[in-house]
Amino acid sequence: MRYHSLGDVPAKRHAQTRRNGKLLTEEVLGYEGFSGNESILYHLHSPCRLSEVGDFEPIVRDEWVPDAHVHRLADANQVEPGGDPVGGRRLLMFNGDIEVWVCKPTETHEGFYRNGEGDEVVYVHRGGGVLHTMFGRVPFREKDYVVIPRGTTHRWELADGEQYWMCFHTPGEIETPNRYRNRYGQLLEHAPYSQRDFHAPIELDTIEDDGDHDLTLRVRDGFQSYVLDRHPFDVVGWDGYVYPYTFNADDFEPRAGRFHLPPPAHQTFQGPNFVICTFAPRMLDWDETAVPIPYHHSNIQSEEVMFYAEGDYAARKGVEIGCLTLHPSGLPHGPQPGTVEKALGAKQTNELAVMWDTFRPLRLTTLWQGVDNPAYAYSWNEEKAAALEAQPVH
Ligand SMILES: [Fe+2]
Repeated sequence: MRYHSLGDVPAKRHAQTRRNGKLLTEEVLGYEGFSGNESILYHLHSPCRLSEVGDFEPIVRDEWVPDAHVHRLADANQVEPGGDPVGGRRLLMFNGDIEVWVCKPTETHEGFYRNGEGDEVVYVHRGGGVLHTMFGRVPFREKDYVVIPRGTTHRWELADGEQYWMCFHTPGEIETPNRYRNRYGQLLEHAPYSQRDFHAPIELDTIEDDGDHDLTLRVRDGFQSYVLDRHPFDVVGWDGYVYPYTFNADDFEPRAGRFHLPPPAHQTFQGPNFVICTFAPRMLDWDETAVPIPYHHSNIQSEEVMFYAEGDYAARKGVEIGCLTLHPSGLPHGPQPGTVEKALGAKQTNELAVMWDTFRPLRLTTLWQGVDNPAYAYSWNEEKAAALEAQPVH
């Protein structure tokens, strides 16, 4: 991210800074010790203050180990809404590099949340609202990726209506690819987005409140609760390179070629051993002999998950908006029968999909098991698939 600042920041770092005669508490929040990106925040009070230490609750992962290794389809539309924006998250898949949680919050987020062991990205498939953070307010809307660096104390305010989110957690850092940047860090002219497409906090709320406030901290593979004796948003100013932001999928400038381009053309973010890509509505490959949908490919070193967000995805049959496919390592995959012929000559696509590829195997949970469609594994075999359709899917 680029340098950003909100509120009052003194001319020099680490110098005496006062408000109404009282010294402010300076907090350096940074990655990689003191060598990575950082921001400096100025608090009215020490951010260490506690009123009470509460319980620690370990994360329980209900893994589902399927009987067979096959391509999979899950209809996450069937996941029941409920819970608040953090407690209502339900784990769908995970490995040591990434966790993906489905969240359809219906309840107000009480208290505050901070992830102390990972960065988060929330893809807002449906819904919107305001993310209140110690860095200021971050409005979010449908198709936003909301990126929240670790260490950011925050609270979600929900707009009215349906909310349907895919929440990513990684112990690594969420970054934009280096190949989109020049040697100074500025995004290149041919990157699929520019700095203008990334939206930092818009306004700082400085709250002086000595009441008790609940804080949940994700750390050590669990959730530690605390009661603070002050409101955590007592920041009068901050500056630096670390802060939450949004990027909307509609602002991704898609790339196309005379012949088909592979998924790295759609890459949006990366973390350790994974990428997140945006397949945005776009013009299709324009050579008159081009096949405008993906060629078959073997992900011999990765697992590929696709979340279908909008439009009509030409390479897939029987896959609805809000569903996911998992094409795991070791198996080739490609368009289903008939979809190639149908797509020939198409000039554009209205599909929107979010894809994450992991370079280490993914483990599924019982949440996936509950919405899994086992017939998908046979969907490249028309006769077998037709026979299965005649039977109830379990
Ligand atoms: Fe693929």
